[in-house]
Amino acid sequence: MQQDDSDTGTPEKRAIRSFVMRQGRITRAQERALAELWPSLGIGYKPAPLDLDQVFGRRAARILEVGIGDGETLVELATRRPDADFLGIEVHRPGIGHCLLGIEAGALTNVRVSNHDAVEVLQHQLPAGSLDELLLYFADPWPKKRHHKRRIVQPPFVALVASRLRPGGMFRLATDWAPYAAHMLEVLGASTDFVNTSPSGDYIARPAERPETKFERRGQRLGHEVFDLAFQRR
Ligand SMILES: C[S@@+](CC[C@H](N)C(=O)[O-])C[C@H]1O[C@@H](n2cnc3c(N)ncnc32)[C@H](O)[C@@H]1O
Repeated sequence: MQQDDSDTGTPEKRAIRSFVMRQGRITRAQERALAELWPSLGIGYKPAPLDLDQVFGRRAARILEVGIGDGETLVELATRRPDADFLGIEVHRPGIGHCLLGIEAGALTNVRVSNHDAVEVLQHQLPAGSLDELLLYFADPWPKKRHHKRRIVQPPFVALVASRLRPGGMFRLATDWAPYAAHMLEVLGASTDFVNTSPSGDYIARPAERPETKFERRGQRLGHEVFDLAFQRR
């Protein structure tokens, strides 16, 4: 199925992005899920604020995961917390298809997905103060120095996240790339919008409630240490 621009929107021209569009293989099951489930569970991109109570058909805690990959973490979290609503954003279309299959298998009613650049969704679709939590697990580390500018965690992104979280809301991050962890700590530590909840002033112990992600398992196979961060919106 080819989605048209009314479904996913055409990304706006912006100089630097945190992703490169990969073609990637899509399975028949994922195509079927996109064709059948996107109309009810997908949130098409339009530069206009969403009414999340209307989208989810209720008022509940709202948790956004940016860069869901294949959505396994999102589906697991949503299964464990039927009291909360989950929005997952991913630019890679097969990942959205895989996630929709998981939502269908679990008969979940508290998950929606967006197949667009999360920065634009945050800027134009998510109202100020509308989120209780934002999860950013294993964001692309862009290890080469010339690519560091592509890292999504930068002061303007942190300010954008702060504006979309309600006061007291949580920004949770994890990475298996030590230099990116240090960069996250530096950028978030410099933000006057957030307080680091780490008792040691840097990282937190791995939260028991954070599922092990696919990318995390890959990092573990490579012997990478994992760093968790949790910052609270003032
Ligand atoms: C390294 S993967 C990690 C996936 C998953 N969170 C995990 O831990 O297995 C990072 C993902 O973020 C997605 N991504 C990067 N920048 C994004 C953006 N601006 N908007 C939406 N998705 C993005 C990429 O397509 C990729 O699937």
